[in-house]
Amino acid sequence: MKITYYGHSCFGVEINNKHLLFDPFISYNELAKGINVNAISADYILVSHGHEDHIADAVSIAKRTNAIVICNWEIHVWFQKQGITNTHPMNTGGKKMFDFGSVKCVKAEHSSSLPDGSYGGNPMGFVVESSDKNFYYAGDTALTYDMKLIGQYRKIDFAFLPIGDNFTMGVDNAIICCKDFIHCSDVIGMHYDTFGYITIDKQEAINKFNIQGKTLTLLEIGQTISK
Ligand code: NI
Ligand code: MN
Repeated sequence: MKITYYGHSCFGVEINNKHLLFDPFISYNELAKGINVNAISADYILVSHGHEDHIADAVSIAKRTNAIVICNWEIHVWFQKQGITNTHPMNTGGKKMFDFGSVKCVKAEHSSSLPDGSYGGNPMGFVVESSDKNFYYAGDTALTYDMKLIGQYRKIDFAFLPIGDNFTMGVDNAIICCKDFIHCSDVIGMHYDTFGYITIDKQEAINKFNIQGKTLTLLEIGQTISK
């Protein structure tokens, strides 16, 4: 499994030779100026909710790559209106098998509206299980007790968790999430530093995880790692 960071909450994950792209917000992100959006591969684009900082590049990448867009029903309807017809609508609680593995949509405690102000349905997180590894992509969410269900019935090898606070959970709640709820020691941080509201002390965040025997990885934008 290969993971590439494109800034904010956007990651490319390569599983079994398929390219998944989560929450594309790249060309509008000042910190991601070094990324060539037109060079990003995608067989699937997974969109957690409708906010601009998760969907801004989704239409253009979907048009270029003809990737299947996985999202909730309301966002699926919005994509159809943008001329993107290769969508796979899902909703919270639903699980579906794809050629790379399965996706289960889980609750995210947040809000969701689309860039034109239309209703974005419920925000979601994704649990991806594959023959390679299992991971949880939390999307934008508060710490919520429902996360206990995610860790109780499957092994989560690693998790993408928001750590920027203000709009989502911050570092301390992300530690509770991985320690007590999803039982996962390996966290990749997201949703921090992009805007002034969510600037964090990165070394302090890493240290806080280490004290609890957990690993927080903060990737450089453009960096690729293997899992
Ligand atoms: Ni959001
Ligand atoms: Mn956000």
